[in-house]
Amino acid sequence: MGPNVIAFSSGKGGVGKTSLSVNVASLLAQAGTKTLLVDGDLGLANVDILLNLNVETTLQDVLEQKAELSDSLAWVNNNFAVLPATSGVPDMVNQGPDAQKQMGELLDQLGSEFDMILIDTAAGIGADVLWFNHLSQISTVVLTPDPTSITDAYALIKVIWQEYDRQEFHLLLNQVQDEEEAEKFYSGLTKVCENYLQFRPQFLGHVTKDSSVQKGLRSKKPFAQEFPQSQATQDLTQIVIRLKELSMNQA
Ligand SMILES: Nc1ncnc2c1ncn2[C@@H]1O[C@H](COP(=O)(O)OP(=O)(O)OP(=O)(O)O)[C@@H](O)[C@H]1O
Ligand SMILES: [Mg+2]
Repeated sequence: MGPNVIAFSSGKGGVGKTSLSVNVASLLAQAGTKTLLVDGDLGLANVDILLNLNVETTLQDVLEQKAELSDSLAWVNNNFAVLPATSGVPDMVNQGPDAQKQMGELLDQLGSEFDMILIDTAAGIGADVLWFNHLSQISTVVLTPDPTSITDAYALIKVIWQEYDRQEFHLLLNQVQDEEEAEKFYSGLTKVCENYLQFRPQFLGHVTKDSSVQKGLRSKKPFAQEFPQSQATQDLTQIVIRLKELSMNQA
């Protein structure tokens, strides 16, 4: 059995991929799942900033064979490690087939050490975003009720489908008022996918717009740990349960 790799992507930037993937990882680890969060935003990395990690070597160093994989993992706790990336290295954004192959091998290697690997990708439909999704068993598309976020989520789904023939996508509606609003936007995008792509994405869940997300960001600690009772943490807990179920079905 290969590793359970889950990508968090979005068409539009700033919808909450990093905030949510950091906190999903933190909740998984808390529940005893050995979890790795890969900072796949190769141009504008920031997982390390959200977690206040002291980063010495990064994914880029590993890919360039300047560092050992094991030396590059930054451990948040016994069950939670981060593979950080470097910010502001433009040529890393346009990875060629060699780096893709290497990244696939790295993930295989890491799969023997971790139960779950999450990848926080960059926004958009760049080559790196597409191959991180290709390397993942589960593609999560994060979107908000913002109309441009919905159009861009559709564009991302379409491009990954065209490029890699993937038809299974899991939509995560973020910054919504409630589940009802999330389902409304989910149905809207699903209709478009059915009409133009002939498949339906699945509903992974929703996260309410909640000030604890921003507070967590400012305190540089996962909001799920700082504010376990918050609505955002409760919503995310449901998502973590579904992700575990999905990954069990992959096994
Ligand atoms: N559920 C939420 N409620 C309130 N604010 C949120 C929520 N989710 C995300 N945010 C806020 O949205 C902003 C963007 O979040 P984040 O950096 O995680 O997005 P991103 O998709 O990773 O962005 P990028 O595309 O630049 O990588 C942050 O200020 C974050 O606090
Ligand atoms: Mg981000």
